[in-house]
Amino acid sequence: MSRSAHPAGPRHADVLPEGHYSAPPADLNTLDPKVWAETVDRGDDGVVRVGGVDVKALAEEFGTPAYFLDETDFRARARAWRTAFGQDADVFYAGKAFLSRAVVRWLHEEGLNLDVCSGGELATALSAGMPADRIAFHGNNKSTEEIHRAIEAGVGRIVLDSFQEIVRVAHIAQELGKRQRVQIRVTVGVEAHTHEFIATAHEDQKFGIPLAGGQAAEAVRRALKLDGLELIGIHSHIGSQIFDTSGFEVAAHRVVGLLKDIRDEHGVELPEIDLGGGLGIAYTSADDPREPHEIAKALTEIVTRECEGARLRTPRISVEPGRAIVGPTAFTLYEVGTIKPLDGLRTYVSVDGGMSDNIRTALYDAEYSVALVSRTSDAEPMLARVVGKHCESGDIVVKDAFLPADLAPGDLIAVPATGAYCRSMASNYNHALRPPVVAVRDGEARVIVRRETEEDLLRLDVG
Ligand code: LLP
Repeated sequence: MSRSAHPAGPRHADVLPEGHYSAPPADLNTLDPKVWAETVDRGDDGVVRVGGVDVKALAEEFGTPAYFLDETDFRARARAWRTAFGQDADVFYAGKAFLSRAVVRWLHEEGLNLDVCSGGELATALSAGMPADRIAFHGNNKSTEEIHRAIEAGVGRIVLDSFQEIVRVAHIAQELGKRQRVQIRVTVGVEAHTHEFIATAHEDQKFGIPLAGGQAAEAVRRALKLDGLELIGIHSHIGSQIFDTSGFEVAAHRVVGLLKDIRDEHGVELPEIDLGGGLGIAYTSADDPREPHEIAKALTEIVTRECEGARLRTPRISVEPGRAIVGPTAFTLYEVGTIKPLDGLRTYVSVDGGMSDNIRTALYDAEYSVALVSRTSDAEPMLARVVGKHCESGDIVVKDAFLPADLAPGDLIAVPATGAYCRSMASNYNHALRPPVVAVRDGEARVIVRRETEEDLLRLDVG
C-alpha cells in the first residue's frame, strides 16, 4: 500500500502504515507507465516528453510550476469508461477533480455526462456547451440561488442530500413550473478507501441521508409526494481511491434493499441507481488500480445479482469517476531552487511551487512519485523530500522519494498523477500565483487555464 492516510482525513491514519518508503528503483531514469500519462516518454537526448513535446521547451514557453495535461490520455480514459459501461449505463465525470471549459468539451465529445457540485462548476459546464440534461447537480448545501439556476437551466438530475433540500428543490421547481428529476443520496453505512473498507457506523458524516433508522425511506416517502419532483433513483458514494469492489458490493446490497422496500411500500420501481465515484489510480508504483472494463463488469454484476435476488428489474446504473479519468493524465513540472542535505536524514529539495499547487500531501498524507525530467543521470540515488516555497514546514509535495544525488538547482523535476484535486484544490497561500494547466496533444501545447498574475491578485484586493 503506498499511502499512509486517506482523503477521509486524519482519522484513518491509525489503520494504515506510516512513515515508510520503498527501496530506490533499479534505474532512476525509468518512467513507470503506471504513474505517468500515456504519451509521456524520455527522448534520445534524455529529456522527458509529453505528446511529443519536451519538458525543457514546455518550461521555456509556459514557465514553472505548471500542470501539463495529456489530452490524448484524457480522451482515451474518458472513452474507456464510456465504452466499459456501454449504452445501458451513464458515466458522469466528477468535475470537482478538475474542470475547465476545454475538459467539458472533450467530455461532451467523448459521450460522457458531468457531475457538478457548485454554481461555479455548473457555470463552467454550461458555458462550454455541455447539454444541461447531461449534468447532475450535487452538494450537501446547495444555495436556493444555485438550485434555481440548475432547474432553470434544465439539469438532468439534482441529487438531494437532506430533508430540507427535498422541500426546497420541489418548491423552486414548482415556482418555475417544472418537475425536476432527482435522486436521493443515501448513506449506506459503508466507507471505503484504498484497500480497506468498513461496513459499520459511517453515518457520522455530513453527506447523504442515512439508510439507518428508516431515514432514507422517509425521504423517499416525502419526495414521492411532491409534485415538483420526479424521483428517478438512489445515489450512494462510498469513498475515494478505492481499489477493490467489496465496498460497492455492500453498498449495492443496501441500496437495492431500499429499492425493494420502495417497491413494496409504494408499488414503484425506481429506474436508476448511482454508485458514485472513488475508483483509485496509481500515485506510486506500489498502487495497482483496476481497468474500467473490470470495474464496469464487477459493478454491473453486483447490481444485477442483487436485483435478481430482490426480484426487481435491474435499474440503469451510473457512476461518477473523477480521479480515475483525469488523475493520471497530468504531471506538475517544477524547477529545483535549493538543495539542502540533512546529514543522516534526507535531502530537502525545494521547488518553485508547493502546497498551493498540491495540498494533498499536507492534507491527506498522500504519496507521490517524482523524477528528474530535464536530463538523465547515472548518479547514486539519494533519499529526498520535495518541498515547496511556502512559509510552513508541512509544505511537502513528495514526502519520500529517490532522486539522483547530482540533482542541481535549475534541474526540472516532475510529479506525476497530479491531474485530480491539485489544480482544483490550489490556493493563493502566501499570495502564490496558481499555475496554468497546459494541454498537450500531437506535438502541440496550449494553455487551457492560464497562470494567475499579480494583476489578478491585486484586482481582487480592492484596497
Ligand atoms: N461523486 C461524488 C458524490 C463525490 O463526492 C466524489 C468525490 C466523486 C464522485 C468523485 O470521486 P473520485 O472518483 O474523483 O475519487 N479531494 C479529495 C477527494 C475528495 C473527493 C470528494 N468527492 C482528494 O484529493 O483525494
